[in-house]
Amino acid sequence: MEKSKAKFIIDGKEFEYPLIEGTENERAIDISTLRSDTGCITLDYGYMNTGACTSAITYLDGENGVLRYRGYPVEELAEKLEFVSVAYLLVNGKIPNNSERKEWSRLLNKHSIIHEDMRHFFYRYPEHAHPMAILSAMVVSLSAFYPELSQHRPEEPEEQLDIAAARLISMLRTIAAFSYKKSIGEPFVYPQHSLKYCENFLNMMFSSPVIPYEIKPEITKALNVLLILHADHEQNCSTSAVRLVGSARVNLYASVAAGICALWGPLHGGANQMVIEMLEEMRAKGISAKEVIEKAKSRDTAFRLYGFGHRVYKSYDPRAKVIKKVCDDVLKVLNINDPLLEIAKKLEEAALCDEFFIERNLYPNVDFYSGIIYRAIGIPKEMFTVLFALGRLPGWIAQWKEAREDCSFKIQRPRQIYVGPQNRHV
Ligand code: SDX
Repeated sequence: MEKSKAKFIIDGKEFEYPLIEGTENERAIDISTLRSDTGCITLDYGYMNTGACTSAITYLDGENGVLRYRGYPVEELAEKLEFVSVAYLLVNGKIPNNSERKEWSRLLNKHSIIHEDMRHFFYRYPEHAHPMAILSAMVVSLSAFYPELSQHRPEEPEEQLDIAAARLISMLRTIAAFSYKKSIGEPFVYPQHSLKYCENFLNMMFSSPVIPYEIKPEITKALNVLLILHADHEQNCSTSAVRLVGSARVNLYASVAAGICALWGPLHGGANQMVIEMLEEMRAKGISAKEVIEKAKSRDTAFRLYGFGHRVYKSYDPRAKVIKKVCDDVLKVLNINDPLLEIAKKLEEAALCDEFFIERNLYPNVDFYSGIIYRAIGIPKEMFTVLFALGRLPGWIAQWKEAREDCSFKIQRPRQIYVGPQNRHV
C-alpha cells in the first residue's frame, strides 16, 4: 500500500514516514516508529485525524455520503437482503449461499433461548431499570454461562466463533424482548423456530398469552431495513470500544458488553432516545424549531440538536435518507399521523437553512428519524438504543474478529502528554 512519503522536520532534523493508501485511495501517514525516532508522539483530541487500524469491513465516504458493507452499497443491501444475511456478510465477508444461509438460520434458532438461570436475573432489576443497563450486564454474563465459546483465538476452529456469533445475535434479541416484557410486567414470550429474525423479535415484544400479535410484512421489512442500516459504521465510538477492550484478549461477550455501554451515550447511539424526548418537549411546551436551534447553538449548555451532525458525514447521512422514506411508509401502513414527525421535519428544515449548521456541515444523522418509526411500531423510547445495539451487533462481532485475526494484533494503549505537577515530596 506504500506509495509516497511524508517528511517531518523536528528541531532541524528531517524524518520521513511512509504514506499508505487503501483500496478507496484514502491515505495515512504510518508513524509506527515516530516516538522511537523523534521522542515525539502525536496528540489528536477525539482521534479526529487518527486511524486505529486498516479494515476490510465497512467503507464510509463522509463528503459524498457513501456507506458500503464489504463493498456492497448499504441501500442495495437494505433493499435486497434480510438483516441476518447482512449479519453473515459482515462477519464472514460474503453473502451466504443457500446452504450457508440454512446453516446460519439453524445456529440462530439453536442458540435463541437464554439459560434458565439468566432468566431469573430479570426479576432482580428495578421496574424502571434502563434496558441498556440490563443488556450490557446480560451480555457480559454470557461469558459466565458459555466460557468455552467466548475465547476466540486465531488457531481456534472457525465454527467456535460462528457459534458464539450466532448465540450473541440470537440471544441479544431475546434479552431485548425479555427486558421490555419485564418493564411492562408481562410474561416472557419465547422465540419460535417457525418465525424469521425480525418477526420473532416483534412477536416476543408484542404478543401475549391473551392477544396474539399480528405480524405485518411491511413492519418486518421496515425493521429489517433499520437493523441493516445500523449494522456497522467502521471505527465509531462503540466499535472502537469493542476493539480496544478486545485488544487485551478479552472474550467476545465482554468486548461487546463494552460496546453496548459506549453506544448508550447521548452523543452516540443514545441520541435516538434524546431526539424523541426533544420533540416531545417541543410539542408539550410549544417550543418552536427556532428556539431549539438557538439553544443548540449556544455554548452555555451541553444541549445539542440531537440527531444532527456527524464526525464523518459532512453531507446528508445516507442512512437518514432511507430511514426518512421508511418513516413515511410505516406511518402510512399503520395509518398513523404522528405530530412528532411534522415537528421533526420543521426542525430539519429550519436547521438546514441556519448559517451555524450550514457552516459546520450539520445534517440529520441515522438517529434523527429512526425513533419515529420505532414509536409507530410500538417500541418505547427507552428501547430505541437497544434496537440500535441489535443492529450494530454483527458489525461489532466482525470488527472484533478482524482485529483478533490481524497479524499486527497488539493491545491498544495510547500515550499522553503529562501536564500535572512536577516531581515533589510528601
Ligand atoms: C451516531 O461515529 C459514528 O459513526 C456514529 C454513528 C454510528 O453509526 O456509529 O453514526 C451513530 O452516534 C450518530 C450521532 C448521534 N449523536 C447525536 O445526534 C448528538 C448530536 N450530535 C453532536 O453531538 C455531534 O454532531 C457528534 C457527537 C455526532 C459529532 O461530534 P464531533 O465530530 O466531535 O463534532 P463537534 O462536536 O466538534 O462539532 C463541530 C462543531 C462544534 O461547534 P464549534 O466548536 O465549531 O463552534 O459543530 C457543532 C459543535 O458545537 N455541533 C453541533 C451539533 N453537532 C456539532 N451544534 C449543535 N447541535 C449539534 N447536533
